[in-house]
Amino acid sequence: MRSLIDIKDLTTGEIEELIAVAEDIIAHPQAYAHRCAGKKLATLFFEPSTRTRLSFEAAMYELGGNVIGFSSAQNSSTAKGESVSDTVRTVSCYADIIAMRHPKEGAPMVASRRATVPVINAGDGGHNHPTQTLADLLTIHREKGGFRNLTIGLCGDLKFGRTVHSLMSAMARYEGTRFVLISPEELCIPEYVKSEVLEPQHVPYTEVRELEPVMHELDILYMTRVQRERFFNEADYVRLKDTYILTEDKLRTAKSDLCIMHPLPRVNEISVSVDDDPRACYFKQVLYGKYIRMALMLKLLEEANV
Ligand code: NCD
Repeated sequence: MRSLIDIKDLTTGEIEELIAVAEDIIAHPQAYAHRCAGKKLATLFFEPSTRTRLSFEAAMYELGGNVIGFSSAQNSSTAKGESVSDTVRTVSCYADIIAMRHPKEGAPMVASRRATVPVINAGDGGHNHPTQTLADLLTIHREKGGFRNLTIGLCGDLKFGRTVHSLMSAMARYEGTRFVLISPEELCIPEYVKSEVLEPQHVPYTEVRELEPVMHELDILYMTRVQRERFFNEADYVRLKDTYILTEDKLRTAKSDLCIMHPLPRVNEISVSVDDDPRACYFKQVLYGKYIRMALMLKLLEEANV
C-alpha cells in the first residue's frame, strides 16, 4: 500500500507529475468534481491545525468525496489510551485514505504499516511535513517557472520547523539550489539534515544569524514561526520568538522578483504591511496546498485500486 510519509517517498518525476495534475485541476476544476465520488478521507489530527486539515477536507469535497475524522486527540479514543496502530486499523475499516498529524516523530510511519489504506503524513512532530512541501513546490514552480538555480533563504526556527526539513530535502535534488540558513544558534538546522540531505548531495549552504545582510542574494525567502509547542522552556521561547520580523523596510535590498513564503500560521514573523507587497506569496501557498492535495489523493487512491 503506497503512503506518503516523507517527501523522499516521491521521485522527482512523480513530484513533477503531481504539479502537472494540480495545474490541470486549477485550469479545469469541473473535470475533477466527481473523481472521488463514493470515496472517504479520514483526517486524524492529534495536533492543532487550520490549513492542513481544512485543505485536505476541501480537497476531498472538491473531488466529490466525503470526509470523516477528528481534530484533536481529546475527541478520540486516544484519550482512553488507544494506540495509534489500533486507531488506524479501525479507521481503515471506514475510510479509503487517511491524513494524519501527530506530535510524535514517526507516528504516521508506524500508522502506515498498520493501515490497510494509504496514509498521508500531515506533519509529525518536528520531523517532516511532505504535503506542505508539495504546496511549497507548486508555489515555487508557479512563481519561478521551475526549480533550478534558486537561492533559498530559510529563516527562523530551522531546528523544530518540520516544513523546512521537508522542503530542503525536496529542493536539494535540483541543480543550482543554494540554501542560506538564517537562525539563532539555538534554532539552527539539525545535524541529521546536514549529514543526510546537504552533504551527500553536495548542496552549497551558508549559516548566518542575520537576515538583512543576505536579503539581496535571495530568490526565495521562507519565513517560519518559532515552534513554541516543541520548546521545553517557555523563557527560551519568549527570548527567541521575535528574533526576525520581516518588514517592508527590511525588503529594501531584496530582488524585485523575490518570492516571500511562509507555511503559516504566522505569529509576528511577517509584519501585516508586507501582505500587500506583490512579492508576498504566503496566501497563494494556502490555495495551492488544496490543489496539490487533490492531485496527491487522486494518485494514491488510483494506485491503491490497482
Ligand atoms: C506548519 C506546521 O504545522 O508545521 N503549518 C502548516 O501546516 N501549514 C508550520 C507551523 O505550524 O509553524
